[in-house]
Amino acid sequence: MDVYFITIFPDMFREALSAGMTGIAERTGAAAYHVVNLRDFAEDRYGSVDDYPYGGGPGMILMAPPLVRAVESVRSAEEGDDAPVILLSPCGAVFTQAKAHEFASKRSLVFICGRYKGVDERVRDLVVTESVSIGDYILSGGELAALVVTDAVIRCLPNVIGDERSRDTDSFSTEREFCLDAAYYTRPPEFRGLPVPETLVSGNHARIAQWREESARRRTELYRPDLIAKARLKGSNE
Ligand code: ADE
Repeated sequence: MDVYFITIFPDMFREALSAGMTGIAERTGAAAYHVVNLRDFAEDRYGSVDDYPYGGGPGMILMAPPLVRAVESVRSAEEGDDAPVILLSPCGAVFTQAKAHEFASKRSLVFICGRYKGVDERVRDLVVTESVSIGDYILSGGELAALVVTDAVIRCLPNVIGDERSRDTDSFSTEREFCLDAAYYTRPPEFRGLPVPETLVSGNHARIAQWREESARRRTELYRPDLIAKARLKGSNE
């Protein structure tokens, strides 16, 4: 998979992508990352990419011409030209695990990292295929959001996670679409008076599996009761 990031802060990406799963994916050839400096597509020699909003008001807006030209340069380098062009913005649809799987099935992805007060709306009209938010809060720009989405997508690719069974029980996995993962413990067997639950050290795999199901259900009820309501809604619509 080829992943393109269009940004005015190219330095934010290299270090972040080289760690963990995204780094493994790159080193094994499962993914290649291309960081595109938006200022290379500026129309003046100062590298200007933002301007005041028509109608006035505070904040600057990323201009359409450099952004559209940057996307076109990436897409013309692509064979199929059918890569999703994803604008990271608080005005997008909230990112989910289902979306991560959908993006993981693509040959390439193009991320536009918004900054300042936003991007000229004509960028959406001309090149953006969808807009994604990573939650209902405002970041200073789309770079961190693009990295979050990339991380979630890359771990869905085949042969990136060492033991893929681990992914099957993750929160929001196909097995646990509306459910958080169970609680986990590791050594020592007792810490500050808190022992590891007896079942987990019993060696009885059937009981352990049952304990984990129960733990996942309890944690979901406690921390994310909204997921249980969502699961019911989905069940009643099927
Ligand atoms: N840019 C600013 N806030 C954002 C958010 N919540 N998600 C994605 N991009 C953003």
